[in-house]
Amino acid sequence: MPEFNIESVKEIPIMPQVATKILQMQEDHLDISFKELEQIVLLDPALTSKILKVANSALYARQREITSLQQAITLLGFKTIKSLVLLVCASNMYGKSKWKSNVNFIVSESKSSEIVMWRHLVITGFLSRYIAMKLQLDSLKESIFIAGLLHDIGRIVLLMNNQSKYQEYLEFISKDPEIDIITTEENIFGIHHGEVGKIVFQKWNFPNELIDAVSQHHNLHVDSPNKKTVEIVGLANLYARVISNEPLSRADQDLKEMYSKSLSIQSDIDAYIKENFINDIKNDPLYVVSSSLIGA
Ligand SMILES: [Fe+2]
Repeated sequence: MPEFNIESVKEIPIMPQVATKILQMQEDHLDISFKELEQIVLLDPALTSKILKVANSALYARQREITSLQQAITLLGFKTIKSLVLLVCASNMYGKSKWKSNVNFIVSESKSSEIVMWRHLVITGFLSRYIAMKLQLDSLKESIFIAGLLHDIGRIVLLMNNQSKYQEYLEFISKDPEIDIITTEENIFGIHHGEVGKIVFQKWNFPNELIDAVSQHHNLHVDSPNKKTVEIVGLANLYARVISNEPLSRADQDLKEMYSKSLSIQSDIDAYIKENFINDIKNDPLYVVSSSLIGA
């Protein structure tokens, strides 16, 4: 097995401080948080102008133009702003990373691979949040959204740093739909994408529960004090593939069953996700915005 050396990784995406700060913010004291939120966002002029653009978009159209961040926060609400900031930070990081290459990351005839990948990440983020809400784990809602959005950051880093090996990896896994991708990654890169994600999240000083979610989201037996968070992100990832009509290997199906059982996912939740979830989020302004963020 090749030895993986983090020092050999030249490119690690930069997560703006604003995202880390926002993840640490409490929502209990809304008066203080409103001000705090404004101050944090104002530090980033590009982010501020993006939020103003969204507040003035047709989705939230008002008669008068929104010209200040304070007005935008009042109009969109604390939670929406928070999710929007996380979404913008993730898309900036994703868009700026040099993973876009000649490597055909996900095969799709009609859409480019980066759009397919971004859509998968966004749906996983929304699904993670939905499942957390359904399980009444409201305190997790926002942080789990970013964990879902970034759960495959390790893949992007592996690709950014070694395109020819990544091509070799893709060719290898395309031969057999039942192949174990984690073992294959370990054989080719010396590390799997969950472990790479863990290194990146640690560099960003993300909370432990998100580090565990990114590193263990393919584990059949989760070993973490934050087991629920890990299983929700793992399950959301699999559901995102199901609703995008991507086939699951037998191992993935076992994983889905294991997580569903452990989280006590009821059949009504399962049916809702499969049948209606995607239609419902299509009307969610944040989801609509997510496509425009990377020019999809
Ligand atoms: Fe993954």
